[in-house]
Amino acid sequence: MKREKAAVFASGNGSNFQAMMETEDVTDKIVLLVCDQPGAAVIQKAKKFNIPVLELDMKQFPTKKAYEKRIIKALHSHEVTWIFLAGYMRIIGSELLAAFPKKIVNIHPSLLPAFPGKDAIRDAYWSGATETGVTVHYVDEGIDTGPIIEQVMVRISAEDTLEALAARIHGAEHQLYPNVMKRLLQSK
Ligand code: GRF
Repeated sequence: MKREKAAVFASGNGSNFQAMMETEDVTDKIVLLVCDQPGAAVIQKAKKFNIPVLELDMKQFPTKKAYEKRIIKALHSHEVTWIFLAGYMRIIGSELLAAFPKKIVNIHPSLLPAFPGKDAIRDAYWSGATETGVTVHYVDEGIDTGPIIEQVMVRISAEDTLEALAARIHGAEHQLYPNVMKRLLQSK
């Protein structure tokens, strides 16, 4: 049986990363954090859990291709088989997509295809919708467009504040994403 190993890509706070690291059967499969924002809070979280960090600044690379090639080199040296994006604020380019076909997964805070893009929680809140949610999906060349793996619905009540809704959505993410990961990482 092939041993699956995961890298997490994140740019910011890392609450999803933390939830993964606190989930049995997931934590021991995460071998690398890739972070494109030097100084991001997620880096300290990885250090606390003794996870190696590849910290990159895209400005230091002549092209996106060169940037992704550097990442791929690290992924191969850690024998990574799956990539999980968790608040990674960059579009995955053709180098990474070709190197990890159908092995790159993302979490998005809406019920895709509704509310793609970076302000999904806010957009759903102000739209007047009565429900939104969380989607885990494969990554393709589009933005928030790849095949859906699993979704959960989160209701929006008339009394909700944006902050309360965001907190419930993040809570739902922290349940859903590690569970989906557990399944995918066991599937071979
Ligand atoms: C999450 O809401 C996730 O759905 C989105 O970015 C956010 C990352 O939050 N893609 P965190 O860094 O995991 O706290």
